[in-house]
Amino acid sequence: MTTQDSINVPSAGESNSAIATANANIALIKYWGKADEDLIIPNMSSLSLTLEGLETTTRVSFDTASHSEQTDLLYIDGKQQQGNALRRVSALLDTIRSMAGIHSHAVVTSHNTVPYEAGLASSSSAFAALATAASYAAGLKLTRRELSRLARRGSGSASRSIFGGMALWHAGHDDDSSFAEPVPCPMDLAIVVVLISGSSKKISSREAMQRSVTTSALYNAWVESNAKDLHDALDAIKREDIAALGPVVQTNSLGMHATMMTAKPPVLYWLPGSVAAMQAVEDLHSHGMNAWATMDAGPNVKVLTTAAEAAQVEQALRDKLPGFEVHTHVAGPGARLLPAEHDI
Ligand code: DP6
Repeated sequence: MTTQDSINVPSAGESNSAIATANANIALIKYWGKADEDLIIPNMSSLSLTLEGLETTTRVSFDTASHSEQTDLLYIDGKQQQGNALRRVSALLDTIRSMAGIHSHAVVTSHNTVPYEAGLASSSSAFAALATAASYAAGLKLTRRELSRLARRGSGSASRSIFGGMALWHAGHDDDSSFAEPVPCPMDLAIVVVLISGSSKKISSREAMQRSVTTSALYNAWVESNAKDLHDALDAIKREDIAALGPVVQTNSLGMHATMMTAKPPVLYWLPGSVAAMQAVEDLHSHGMNAWATMDAGPNVKVLTTAAEAAQVEQALRDKLPGFEVHTHVAGPGARLLPAEHDI
């Protein structure tokens, strides 16, 4: 799969409607902070793994004249959405409408197949699925690179979920140059998720990253170290050296959290269970297992390991952390269109 490939077109259905699925991704080298808030141009490049089993499927139908709506309608997991969720979806639909030269509103129906309660239903899969379905429904036939740029405007991390497996989002400096592309990964990696809490966060990642950029004295230092982390991570991947990759991934995430903890006022997503999980990972590591932790804008702990060792890591974490759900995810596919008759 290259960035210039277009998405395979399934059997044709109604021309104003399309359905797409995308998988969530977890960043190994993080994106945290924007140079352009409107276009979502990041301050740094980032690297991620798109995961199997964490999917969003979205149908977008632009109105036909006969049942014209006054606004876009959004349903997520059976519930109609208003407020910020609807505003963010409509903003991306506006971009698509202006690219396609259409004016009709859309009905958007979205379903998350997360194998456990919330907490990981990420904006990465949501906006990658939306960009793919909505652009196709609007009559645009975009390449994966164009889709990545479009998904980025919904949520930065979604630019990477257009691709399966490992993806590198080049920061770039404008709309054209800021896109993700696939990175060959000769290792079979896995992420073991320790679900510390499924409740939705009080501070959005968008707000937390903005606060880190504008108020943390550590932010610029972290951005500088991020460039070296990315270089070292790509080098370790090429050499199939998980023992070199793991520590870079863990330090990069801790550095990002340091910028949150030193923001004014501070942002602390960690719960006691997060600390317990981090310590359990340290313990596995000191017993010679390939296990390194990474955390995002929430309390859940994601453990990087190899697919071959994942079952052992998962079992060890279950034993050490009774009461918490633990699930393994291997690399998953990129965004794809589904046949129009697919039921969601
Ligand atoms: C910590 O992509 O959710 O997961 O672009 O404002 O929508 P917006 O932010 P979002 O932020 C993701 C931040 C992160 C790190 C990462 O995925 O790289």
